[in-house]
Amino acid sequence: MPKISAIGVLTSGGDAPGMNAAIRAVVRTAKYYDMKVMGIRKGYEGLIHGDIYEMSARDVSDIMHRGGTILQTARSAEFKTPEGVKRAVSTARYFDIEGIIVIGGDGSFRGARELCAEGMPSVGVPGTIDNDISCTEYTIGFDTAINTAKDAVDKIRDTATSHERCNIIKVMGRASGSIALNVGIATGAEAILIPERGVDFTRDILEPINRGKKRNKKHFIIIVAEGVADSGDLEARIEAETGIETRTTILGYVQRGGSPTVVDRVYASRMGSYAVELLKEGMGNRIIGVAKNQIYDIDIFEGLDVPYTIREDLIDLSKILSI
Ligand code: F6P
Repeated sequence: MPKISAIGVLTSGGDAPGMNAAIRAVVRTAKYYDMKVMGIRKGYEGLIHGDIYEMSARDVSDIMHRGGTILQTARSAEFKTPEGVKRAVSTARYFDIEGIIVIGGDGSFRGARELCAEGMPSVGVPGTIDNDISCTEYTIGFDTAINTAKDAVDKIRDTATSHERCNIIKVMGRASGSIALNVGIATGAEAILIPERGVDFTRDILEPINRGKKRNKKHFIIIVAEGVADSGDLEARIEAETGIETRTTILGYVQRGGSPTVVDRVYASRMGSYAVELLKEGMGNRIIGVAKNQIYDIDIFEGLDVPYTIREDLIDLSKILSI
């Protein structure tokens, strides 16, 4: 592939803390190599409609520590159509963009794959709090999100102890239990409900609570991933079957905001910079990933076909430690 000297960068899908650090790394690395870099606002929507501007190294000053994304983000219905993709590519060419870096999650990468298929070299940088992209061990935003959730659960634990209550805390993650599993382990939850495992009320809730009661536990923390079906009646059912007063907290969008942790800033910096290096050498059609703390890249078509798995070892660990 010929070398590339003008690139575009966009953020797409749900925002994630650390996206700004990734944008900064893309812009600064491109400028370091004297490449032209165009910021595309509001994801694929902005690409289709030409909401695009040239960025300088100074445009990304003072953003590393901010949550959200300075380029903003959107979920574009138009881009899901073949006409939308064609329009996006012709707009990119109009702005002399030769390659695009897409910072986002699984859905955004499927969009990047469409761009590649239409002849626009693209590179995906994983940015989603869900950590649910199969071809990478890490996605930007996950560490900040689980730390935010951990802080909230620690606070809820204080009041749970005072009142000897059971507290259900619902965390984000779409169809993945990754946030729930990690937050559950980090906060010593008695039960963690994740979609990958399905929910058996007796096995996953009644038994741990009854075991805990026998061991004189004063409170019960249950972490529920949002992808778990029918979690709505849990509170009433737990009260009815155990006699323990139960309350529910839905953490929601608080998990998507806030200043990114060092882990997210560093991964974002490494991955954003790596993406530019690839395009500079004319290597499009890639997804950036992390494996054993090393940044690597994989073909976008192959990467999106890697089957999703949850860490079974963490599920086992959570059971051992919650007795
Ligand atoms: O993908 C990130 C995420 O926050 C998921 O955890 C959640 O299911 C979804 O986005 C919510 O999306 P929206 O911002 O469209 O409500």
